[in-house]
Amino acid sequence: MIRTAEEILGDEVIAAVRRPIEAARGLPGLAYTSEEFFQLEQRKYFARTWMGVAYTCDIPDPGDALPITVAGLPIILVRTQKNEIKAFHNVCRHRAAMVLTEPCKNAKQLQCPYHAWAWDLDGKLRAAPYFDGSKSGLEEGYLDRDTLGLVSANCAVWHHWIFVNLDGNAPPIEEHMQPVTDLMNGADLGATQVAERVDWEFQANWKMSNDNWENYHHMWAHYPIYTKVTDDLDLKTRKPWSASVQQGAVMSLKRNSKKAPPYPKRESNLPMIPFPDGAERVTAPNLVLPNVEITVVRDNIGSVIIEPLAPDQSVARMAFFFVGDAATDPKYEAGRNMNFDRWLGKSRSPAARDGLRNQDMRIWESQQLARRSPAADEVRFSPVWEENVHYFQNQLLDYLTA
Ligand code: FES
Ligand SMILES: [Fe+2]
Repeated sequence: MIRTAEEILGDEVIAAVRRPIEAARGLPGLAYTSEEFFQLEQRKYFARTWMGVAYTCDIPDPGDALPITVAGLPIILVRTQKNEIKAFHNVCRHRAAMVLTEPCKNAKQLQCPYHAWAWDLDGKLRAAPYFDGSKSGLEEGYLDRDTLGLVSANCAVWHHWIFVNLDGNAPPIEEHMQPVTDLMNGADLGATQVAERVDWEFQANWKMSNDNWENYHHMWAHYPIYTKVTDDLDLKTRKPWSASVQQGAVMSLKRNSKKAPPYPKRESNLPMIPFPDGAERVTAPNLVLPNVEITVVRDNIGSVIIEPLAPDQSVARMAFFFVGDAATDPKYEAGRNMNFDRWLGKSRSPAARDGLRNQDMRIWESQQLARRSPAADEVRFSPVWEENVHYFQNQLLDYLTA
């Protein structure tokens, strides 16, 4: 039996996170380092909300299937013959071996490697070879095919993203994502196609990525990609150019002033993301809690799905989407590469420190080490920059204490 959030953290620590931002304290170190706290997050947060798990391009064709882990449980994602994406518990109905251990392409069925029970892509039991001595294993009537399908899990697709909600009680995905739709002013995200998919592991807690949903760190952590504080801050008003916006599961850093420098600054020949006639063009990094980042800029979408593996280990599943054939056409390659240089660094390496993503990861890994210290229990938030961070930590506590 794992303890409650109140027992693990203590009421005073929870109350300190709950205070108004000026007086609040951030989550203490053990929220980032403790295995018990990580299990609590899996059970009370990840299983009860929509977790981003993959992109539709990860299983592009019927019969493509992927073994994944959601809230610590093994799940299969599969694209059916009817081109629907479904999720099943990756647990054999015979004696609970994992049915799928490797990604597969164009499969006609899902077959358990232990005694070869097999299901069609809709999860219906097709065969249990020689279970009753007969070839199909189903002739003597020991097994009821209708009740021995793979156990389904609640799965939804929103544009390029695949989500799973294990407890089945989350609101419909459209409702969950509505703040993104609203914040993006009708941007046609569906006009984009995938150009690049890459997974990078980092040795830090999954929350570091959400705690990073602020522009305060840009000039220092991302030098020389960012070089001036005025890229992000209006020195006259002392307000950032981007407003922290929180709506439901979504927090965003929406460019809020026409006077703001363009973001990002470079020009390219890449086609722009379409907006409805008359709608104001919006750029915004959106974070759909708990783990999906959808950063929409003028000509592309950069996305990360963070998969929490352990208290101190996560994977960033990254994808970049461009408008129409700009995702693949060689004439746009230079524009795409400019974008990848910025995000992934010229090295394109998870171990380097030359792009926005690996620069962030190096900081998170250093935080992860420092979080073991008793001195890491007294962290605080800037009321000017870090409203999102405070919001996220409060939403996490809402789930954990509910
Ligand atoms: S455990 Fe899967 S067929 Fe026996
Ligand atoms: Fe960053």
